[in-house]
Amino acid sequence: MTTAESPWRGVASEDAAEISVAGGVFLRERSRRLLRSLARPHKAALWTVAGAVLLQNAAGMAGPYLIAVGIDDGIPQILAGDGPSTLFIVFGLFMLSAVAQGALRWFFFTRSGYVGQAMLFQLRRRVFNHLQGLSLSFHEKYTSGRVISRLTSDVETIGELLDESLDELVMAVLSIVSIGVILLVLDAPLALVVLLSFPLLLLMFRWFGKNSTLSYRRTRETVALLIVQFAESLGGIRAVQAFRREPRNQEIFEEVADDYKAANRRAWQLIAVFEPGIMLLGNLTIGAVLLYGGYRTISGEIEVGVLVAFLLYLRRFFAPMEDLSVLYNSFQSATAALEKLSGVLEESATVPAPAYPRSLESPQGTVHFDAVRFGYRSDAEAAVVLPRLDLRIPAGQTVALVGATGAGKSTLARLLARFYDPHEGSVTVDGVDVRDLTDADLRRAVVMVTQESFLFSGSVAENIALGSPSASRADIEQAAQAIGAHEFITALPEGYDTDVRKRGGRLSAGQRQLVSFARAFLADPAILILDEATSSLDVPSERLVQRALRTILTDRTALIIAHRLSTVEIADRVLVMSDGRIVEDGAAADLIGGSGAFADLHQAWLDSLV
Ligand SMILES: Nc1ncnc2c1ncn2[C@@H]1O[C@H](COP(=O)(O)OP(=O)(O)OP(=O)(O)O)[C@@H](O)[C@H]1O
Ligand SMILES: [Mg+2]
Repeated sequence: MTTAESPWRGVASEDAAEISVAGGVFLRERSRRLLRSLARPHKAALWTVAGAVLLQNAAGMAGPYLIAVGIDDGIPQILAGDGPSTLFIVFGLFMLSAVAQGALRWFFFTRSGYVGQAMLFQLRRRVFNHLQGLSLSFHEKYTSGRVISRLTSDVETIGELLDESLDELVMAVLSIVSIGVILLVLDAPLALVVLLSFPLLLLMFRWFGKNSTLSYRRTRETVALLIVQFAESLGGIRAVQAFRREPRNQEIFEEVADDYKAANRRAWQLIAVFEPGIMLLGNLTIGAVLLYGGYRTISGEIEVGVLVAFLLYLRRFFAPMEDLSVLYNSFQSATAALEKLSGVLEESATVPAPAYPRSLESPQGTVHFDAVRFGYRSDAEAAVVLPRLDLRIPAGQTVALVGATGAGKSTLARLLARFYDPHEGSVTVDGVDVRDLTDADLRRAVVMVTQESFLFSGSVAENIALGSPSASRADIEQAAQAIGAHEFITALPEGYDTDVRKRGGRLSAGQRQLVSFARAFLADPAILILDEATSSLDVPSERLVQRALRTILTDRTALIIAHRLSTVEIADRVLVMSDGRIVEDGAAADLIGGSGAFADLHQAWLDSLV
């Protein structure tokens, strides 16, 4: 895929970078910290689970040994006519170990399932809470696809590890180590034969570990590209269809899907070599032990039962090694997921909550911008949007903000609503820096209605009451009536109870704007910002809203941004913005009478009307 053809290359490579940082089986400090904090409340339970695993392992180890005793002592005893007492004891112990293993396994699953799910719940809860609290600037650079995979596949991967793989891994390591010791104790010369296979085993493990880390990384990178391509093409399906982009998107998709396929095939090829390799080596070793052990039994150096036990242990020694390849992959995925999640949790809000919050009991709505300097990126000098802005708006004033596209009008509004913080200077409401206000006070004092009015699934009434949950149905209807939305709402299939996301309840862009207007009106803020809030309304509806605005705006400060200059009629004051600066400031009549930018703008608008 060529770089020029892929507009979302940047996003994908960010994901890829994130993944390659996270690769490998070793946890970084922040991941360990996260894991520790998740495990802390379950310490006692985790210890009992670990105890159960150890006991189960011990019970499992008893089997072959008991068989050896049965063959070497029990059977000869019967043959010698001394009765079956030893064999019965062996049988009893064998049964006991079998029952103990079953019971311990049951205990393990119930406990670890409980603890694992509790930890996952906590993790999900924390990540969601943290993501919600992060500022807009984080969400602008961290695409929704990445956010979704954090909360879904990453958490699931860790879940798989906790539910299955971790236990298998621990069991595998435990049994390999304990069997190693048992083999040495049972018969050292035979154990030496097993030891001969070790150099080859080590080589195979190293080869697999190295290649598997690489191939794992490759699969993650390619799947990230795949998800991004998938999400962006379908997310923008309207534009895709409108511009007939489908064939090209299909082509790009197939290319990345092909890369993903190749990466996965490579991963499977590794397993395809590793697993049978270990199996073969294991069986060869077992064969060699059988041969050498056979000679040793004939010469009387060891008993038949010991040889049988040795061979049985040996099978259990190699079997978990074969599984290690799959476990290794699941372990890698989980550590990478943990790394990414702890990375997200480490992100701090660029719009932080105040350390010493100040409250605003009854806000008046005086607004001051003092020497404000701001750009969306703090590092690039060229990206400064507002070089130095000074603005004083007395309480209760209605200000119209006009200016060319890209002049910085919305940016000014977003700073007032504190979606971003200025790099220099300050924004104050009633003399209090917005950075010092509690979130609740700020959201009560300043409400912004924008062009994109977002409605949540739920009824129309619930959407209007979003910012004022205690509002009664009468309040809601009154707000809708005040801005002229009542008629269209009552005409909906279920009136105010119509679900806005369900079929038949979908609203037009203008209707959505009216709903968010009613929402803002009901919230009754001291400062109301309307950013192109009437742009989707037809002329009669806009007139209606404007008439309503006259009453709505009487006792509050308002900042109205609009390209249609009809809004200016209700403003006490007009600000003209250009390149992040306020170039004209005055009463509409004075500006129109003058010879500045606004006079030209107004003339052009008048001309467009005829
Ligand atoms: N989220 C953002 N990230 C980076 N740059 C942005 C962002 N939003 C706006 N900008 C940039 O900031 C500048 C001012 O944008 P702003 O949205 O304030 O303009 P505006 O006056 O509201 O324009 P319009 O009339 O088109 O709404 C533009 O150059 C724009 O490219
Ligand atoms: Mg704008």
